Amino acid sequence: MARPFLKWAGGKRQLMKELEKLFPKELKDGEEIRYAEPFVGGGAMLFELLGNDKYNISEVFISDTNGPLIMAYTAIKKDLDGVKKHLNNYQEEYDAWNDSSDSYDKRKAWYFHLRDGKFWELTSTRKDTEKIEDEDCELAALVILFNKLGFNGIFRMNRKGKFNVPPSNLVNKTFYKENELNKVHDALQKVKEIEYGDYESCNDFVKEQSQSITFVYFDPPYLPLNPTSFTSYSNSKRDFSTELAHQELAKFANELDNVKNVKIMISNSDINFTINDDGIHEYKEKDDEGYNNFFDTNFSNSFKIHPVLARRSINRNGAGRGKIGELVIVNYSTD
Ligand SMILES: C[S@@+](CC[C@H](N)C(=O)[O-])C[C@H]1O[C@@H](n2cnc3c(N)ncnc32)[C@H](O)[C@@H]1O
Repeated sequence: MARPFLKWAGGKRQLMKELEKLFPKELKDGEEIRYAEPFVGGGAMLFELLGNDKYNISEVFISDTNGPLIMAYTAIKKDLDGVKKHLNNYQEEYDAWNDSSDSYDKRKAWYFHLRDGKFWELTSTRKDTEKIEDEDCELAALVILFNKLGFNGIFRMNRKGKFNVPPSNLVNKTFYKENELNKVHDALQKVKEIEYGDYESCNDFVKEQSQSITFVYFDPPYLPLNPTSFTSYSNSKRDFSTELAHQELAKFANELDNVKNVKIMISNSDINFTINDDGIHEYKEKDDEGYNNFFDTNFSNSFKIHPVLARRSINRNGAGRGKIGELVIVNYSTD
């Protein structure tokens, strides 16, 4: 069974059991389904659906605004040997310091040299995901490498699109397992479209075949517990720390809901879930206006809101892991 090949912030692996309970009946029953995941990230749901015999997925659309990530999906799908070649070359360079007493210093210098040199050069120049060239395979290999070697396995880019994560402890690490990457490659053959860009680019895929059921899973960057109502400084098209971006997404989902046979699931934070002064996670009292007022008012009446508890690491005063509230919003009956 294929599994995500990257560790991703906001990844849904821990929540998969809860999400599965809320899948459309047709998907659970093994009917043939088309699938779109426009905020794919590490693709926990994608690999769950593609890697599991109980689901019958015919064709898939994925997108993300993270260019190197999309290049990694494309290159692994189209030229796995090319990606492996670069991974093996980098692994060899890294392993050369295995027995050296100053391996950390050597690897650290190598890490920064690659991060701010080759990786930045390829990240800022490679955007075309149609034709795969050797450089694209190298970029894909570097995405995997930095996901393994970066601090906390986080793949974070700054506003300029530059990967700026410091290194981890750089002990002896294996960048990838061949049999696992082979399975990812096989699973991705069902992915018909891999788009670098905004979630709205799923529009045509979702609408083009209304005689089959299309399941769409939206997993945007979450609305923060204290959302801002103004657009903050950002050069990206949408800023998901604002309510505006989430209202626009709700509007898009409402539009897709009018298309026959489109089953929609959306994840978000439960903004009624709070952390009190003692660092304890708790739900706010339900208020008179309803449990989830923001989402209630923005989604049409076809949508139902299901609160679920997720295990997550919470970065508040260095607090450890705990459970937080999330919402799963769907436009179909889950009985
Ligand atoms: C919460 S993560 C998705 C995690 C994913 N479900 C997983 O299991 O790993 C949100 C993703 O949305 C992407 N993103 C941000 N803005 C976007 C936009 N306007 N359109 C499409 N993707 C976007 C981010 O790059 C990020 O990968």
